[in-house]
Amino acid sequence: MPTFDIVVIRGDGIGVEVIEEGIKVLNAVARRHDIAFKFSEMPWGSDHYFKNGRMMPADAIATLRPFHAIYLGAVGHPKLQDHVTLNGLLLPIRRAFDQYVCERPSVLYPGVTSPLRDKKPYDIDMVVIRENTEGEYANVGGFQYLDFPQEIGVQTAVFTRHGCERVITYAFELARKRRKKLHVTSVTKSNAQGYGMVVWDRAFQAVAARYPDIKTRSLLVDAACMEFVRRPEMFDVVVGSNLFGDILTDLGAIITGSIGLAASGNIDPERRFPSMFEPTHGSAPDIAGKGIANPLAAILSGGMMLRHLGEGKAADAVEKASLAVVAEGKTLTPDLGGKARTSQVGDAVVAALG
Ligand code: NAD
Ligand code: IPM
Ligand code: MN
Repeated sequence: MPTFDIVVIRGDGIGVEVIEEGIKVLNAVARRHDIAFKFSEMPWGSDHYFKNGRMMPADAIATLRPFHAIYLGAVGHPKLQDHVTLNGLLLPIRRAFDQYVCERPSVLYPGVTSPLRDKKPYDIDMVVIRENTEGEYANVGGFQYLDFPQEIGVQTAVFTRHGCERVITYAFELARKRRKKLHVTSVTKSNAQGYGMVVWDRAFQAVAARYPDIKTRSLLVDAACMEFVRRPEMFDVVVGSNLFGDILTDLGAIITGSIGLAASGNIDPERRFPSMFEPTHGSAPDIAGKGIANPLAAILSGGMMLRHLGEGKAADAVEKASLAVVAEGKTLTPDLGGKARTSQVGDAVVAALG
């Protein structure tokens, strides 16, 4: 029986609550598909910071290294500075394990009402591939004259030809694999960002030339935001920089109903290191502890993890059960217009597994 060693970092806020349901579903699907999970929980995050002055121990990366995958809730605490907490846990893991692809599907599922008028199920069916290790998140920069009236912050975006080509190549391969519109849209802002994003555009042209079967389009990010709302049907695979991919995937989440449905994987396609699966949303302090967070994004991220681990049938089962709960419409959290509690949604998905 295949056994998977998964490290679990629930993190902060609703991360704790939604991962509970994700583990519930993963254990249930494992029993039905003859696989086993060994979950190792790491108590890292903001509570760890309050006690130890850091989000995770100094040797955390070495600790994570041997696991098959990482299952993460969310990080972020209203009493701590986000640039400290996120640069103390989430971002260093993405970088250390070269998880250069962030894969985020946005699909309008049956039973979900889009805030966009007249959209039918699957009218919106796209995957955003976000560059995940460099670009605007490169962590290159510094302060000068901090605490003086003339304080300065310099933030450098880093676009390497290698970094652009590899994530863009992943996007083209995915378009082929999906066999839907056979289309890739590249999103930049190279009319204003005339160096790094020009390297991105050049990489996009070079990779596109190797995929004559795939149609392409390049959009500036402002226009792309407009098209996500005006005619999202036109998108199949969308590939963009770290920051643009971040912003577009919250937009992609809400046009398909809720960020509570938006799954995400931080992937090392070469499988040298563990990949990390987490919902797209954050720790949601406004609803944390109330038991009303939608766990489906975390559950569907668990499904993505199963697929990455080579357990396609189990992944399909998680997806099918989650969609059945959504389509039935009886056990939904308030973000989807229901009255159910987080744990009831997890239970409903387990029941729908059959
Ligand atoms: P957020 O995603 O946490 O919340 C945005 C809004 O969406 C809130 O109104 C929240 O209640 C709602 N929401 C989010 N997830 C939901 C769910 N599963 N069910 C129902 N409603 C949900 O974004 P934010 O408020 O900008 O950030 C809060 C904290 O989380 C910040 O500290 C931020 O830095 C952090 N953050 C972390 C991650 C991560 O760990 N990957 C991602 C995004 C934000
Ligand atoms: C996400 C989050 C993170 C990001 C933040 C918390 C640093 O918004 O995973 O989408 O921007 O990558
Ligand atoms: Mn985000």
